[in-house]
Amino acid sequence: MDRKRQERAPFIEALEAYCRLGMTPFHTPGHKGGRSSSAYQRGLFGDALRRDLGLMYALDDLFQPEGPLKEAMELAADLYGAGRTFFSVNGTTACIEAMILAVCRRGDYIIIPREAHRSVMGGLILSGAIPVYMESRFAEKEQISLGPDLESLQAAIAACPQAKAVLFTYPTYDGVAGNLEEMARYAHEQGMFVLVDEAHGAHLPFCGDLPKDALSCGADCTAQSTHKLTGSLTQTSMLHCRRAFPLTDKVAAAMALVQSTSPHYWFLASLDSARRQLALHGTELIGQAVSLARKVRSELNGIDGLYSFGTEITAYDAVGAFDETKVTIDFSGLGMDGRQAEKLLRQEGVEAELTAGNHVLALITMGDDEESARTLCRACRRVAEGQAGRTAGTSHRMAELPLPVPRVVVPPQEAWNAETEAVPFAESLGRVAAETVTFYPPGIPAVGLGEEITADVMIYIKEKLARGYSPNGPADGTLGTIRVIKEG
Ligand SMILES: Cc1ncc(COP(=O)(O)O)c(C=O)c1O
Repeated sequence: MDRKRQERAPFIEALEAYCRLGMTPFHTPGHKGGRSSSAYQRGLFGDALRRDLGLMYALDDLFQPEGPLKEAMELAADLYGAGRTFFSVNGTTACIEAMILAVCRRGDYIIIPREAHRSVMGGLILSGAIPVYMESRFAEKEQISLGPDLESLQAAIAACPQAKAVLFTYPTYDGVAGNLEEMARYAHEQGMFVLVDEAHGAHLPFCGDLPKDALSCGADCTAQSTHKLTGSLTQTSMLHCRRAFPLTDKVAAAMALVQSTSPHYWFLASLDSARRQLALHGTELIGQAVSLARKVRSELNGIDGLYSFGTEITAYDAVGAFDETKVTIDFSGLGMDGRQAEKLLRQEGVEAELTAGNHVLALITMGDDEESARTLCRACRRVAEGQAGRTAGTSHRMAELPLPVPRVVVPPQEAWNAETEAVPFAESLGRVAAETVTFYPPGIPAVGLGEEITADVMIYIKEKLARGYSPNGPADGTLGTIRVIKEG
């Protein structure tokens, strides 16, 4: 990394220089620097409205960059060790769609984890690619998916040696990092591209105690939500291609396809600014977050009835490393599930990132400090003390059911275009699903778009419903009916 160059923020400098010119605007956006904005917007955004500029030649074009944006993206590539980096104003969602569109044509196979983010299905629908699923390992004690391991990758490749690419989620939402380096090496040896959904990993290169970043593990392309953990505005992400990646131009074209032609300059400026901050202070900021998370975890594990797993998760074969800034707090020792805990935490003024099964996930980022860490621990302690004695000793933990083996019978793009209908779930055996049904835990779909509703799928779903779990995904949240593809 060229530290001297990283001190610059070329896009911000260009934006500010343009604003200083005080031009009279005869272009979009129509509020003209805020003059016609509502009082609410003026109060909220103030002077920033003058920086709300549409696509204009004076400030470079995201999709044909030649000036300050090109330079800003080059600096991001330099920071992350990429051959080329693209800014996204449509999150990692667009980056994932773009990388799939770049490597897959209609009818190509792509190997993916079963619990891949919905944007992966979006990429399949857009490209016409067909999924081949890798089986994920599940941690019974922690009740989280660990993602696939080398064995599950090898099984998927043996079943579909003609696949074009493999896509990994690395690390998972819960901070679990699989053995990406060995899996990427194996996939490359089989002639496949390696794509990574690194939405939760933009901070990885800045602390040696965190899992190794995806590019360093051999990824061809990796998509990172800069906004999630590294300080840019919500909706902004980066897509990195490794040096000499042969499809970089196709990625560039695909990024233009899946994003607005009017990217917001605030968003682009926030990416430039976050990149500079990371380059200059990333090691310190991310290092602090890791230390703080360790303290929080240690304090939480000292509270009766709570459990937050740490690096011991790496004892599972499928896990190569763990991101300690992800603090999963299991409340089952208090006889509570995640939803109940989330509600009580909210009453204590604490909002968690997500809840699943018996746990809630709290993120410790570079935005935290001793005080916010104390607030989280205090809230958890109050919840635990309030609960103690009521249902002490009760545990909600139940062994996970074996997941049905997916049977993809209609490619996602075809399923997306098909006529669909809602039928009673009880009568859906043998039909092809037009929607995805997932329960948390394990957060892995029971059935997905274009897949047959087999007897195993029905048994699994019925059992999950009987245990009181609510499905995620179907239009009918009670699953009285399920959307299927019309026959005939
Ligand atoms: C694993 C994973 N991949 C991709 C995404 C999409 O990222 P974005 O919200 O930046 O579009 C998310 C969002 O939560 C995610 O959790």
